[in-house]
Amino acid sequence: MDIAATLRQLGVALADYTGADLTVRSPIDGSQLASLRCHTRAEVQASITQAAEAFTAWRDVPAPQRGALVRLFGEALRGLKEPLARLVTMECGKILEEARGEVQEMIDMCDFAVGLSRQLYGLTIASERPEHSMQETWLPLGPMGVLTAFNFPVAVWSWNAALALVCGDPVVWKPSEKTPLAALACEAIFARACARYTQTTGHTLPDGLLHVLRGGAEVGDWVVSDTRLPLISATGSCRMGRLIAPKVAARLGRSLLELGGNNAVVVSDQADLGVALPAILFGAVGTCGQRCTTIRRVIAHARIYDELLARLKTAYQRIATQYIGNPLDAGTLVGPLIDQAAFAAMQKALDTARQQGGSVFCGERVCAALYPQAYYVTPALVQVPTQVEIVHAETFAPILYVMPYTSLDEAIAIHNAVPQGLSSAIFTTDLREAEQFKRRSDCGMVNVNIGTSGAEIGGAFGGEKDTGGGREAGSDAWKTYMRRHTSTTYYGTTAPALAQGIKFEVA
Ligand code: UN1
Repeated sequence: MDIAATLRQLGVALADYTGADLTVRSPIDGSQLASLRCHTRAEVQASITQAAEAFTAWRDVPAPQRGALVRLFGEALRGLKEPLARLVTMECGKILEEARGEVQEMIDMCDFAVGLSRQLYGLTIASERPEHSMQETWLPLGPMGVLTAFNFPVAVWSWNAALALVCGDPVVWKPSEKTPLAALACEAIFARACARYTQTTGHTLPDGLLHVLRGGAEVGDWVVSDTRLPLISATGSCRMGRLIAPKVAARLGRSLLELGGNNAVVVSDQADLGVALPAILFGAVGTCGQRCTTIRRVIAHARIYDELLARLKTAYQRIATQYIGNPLDAGTLVGPLIDQAAFAAMQKALDTARQQGGSVFCGERVCAALYPQAYYVTPALVQVPTQVEIVHAETFAPILYVMPYTSLDEAIAIHNAVPQGLSSAIFTTDLREAEQFKRRSDCGMVNVNIGTSGAEIGGAFGGEKDTGGGREAGSDAWKTYMRRHTSTTYYGTTAPALAQGIKFEVA
């Protein structure tokens, strides 16, 4: 693994960050990639101070010019797609093909934000009073905090950063302590884009539009609690969301939460199994089951249950024997789990599933002789008679629970019975079933004849219930990064009329 060369290509001068606080290891073989110095509290505060100062300048730059910076960032990403993808693979263990997809998602997000920079539309509203005009205007909100998870170490940040920057908000980013190098690479690429912006436009940029903070939960906590950051966007577990949300709420800040998923697909007896099977495989075993959108449950009609299960078992067997290994190698489809704790959580969930009546197929550790310090597993398929307790929890590992249903009402009831509500899918060729499901799924995202993962950036990404309610990326998610003005102007020459017909006259 050529980490030094990759970091050099990306413009990261590792020596500048070296220290003894934070050891970064590759999940591929457990080897040490770097040892970093963490930010102190004073440094975090200084970063936020600088971001707040940058805001006062950046908010006055016309939005399309702000977009021009994001365009240059997107161009820089295009040029560095391959080394950034390699770094993502080395640091978080997803296969190279998926890491390339993650960087592509960043590029797409930049394109989207550039277009948006000319479309931060407000409204003109009819006033009830004569000679009054009413408008709704969107204005920059302030510097924002972004906390991201290890599994999408760069794309989820870019959803936030691309929107925040065109909306006029500097960004203070605390990446997962498991993947700080990918964040440092983004910082270096962004610095390059800033330099090109100055060269090509002749305009200077305020210092500190982006801060990347190195550290663990403590650093995250300083960010979350800082009143100078009106918006905190956080991606992670429901547990993490329950810690963060009250802290942001206590200071009356705004939070955008992207928490756990427990995504299910309903496979109808009217499904085309040739469509369903590959989609389920990518959704369930892709990224080694470590996406918030991973398929964790299959709710299969009793009439096709045996056939679907048999075909899934054949495919899982093939994956177990042929496709697990080093995620840098072409041909690998399933890389390692992030660390030993993820492996332990997976084994614990499988034990619990067995105790609760589940029958487990695969799910054991592999490649241990080759990689004693890394945790490769065969994805697990677990037949459960009903949706037992363990199925209600999200285990961030490749475990797919399969259970039967007999009526669509029953399938939807099972589907909606978990606390999380991120993404959902139905496989059916029956238009009525599809429309029923679309209407009644309680998730933020609903799909027909495709899996639950791999959403495009053009839509608003996020979920309901314990998933936290936030929306990021496309559609009108940008509105969260701005503040709304309602403005009313009177242009008459006599005493202005009062709303609601109130008379208040002093003789
Ligand atoms: C995540 O797992 O946190 O829809 C994000 C998807 C990707 C993003 C996943 N576009 O699976």
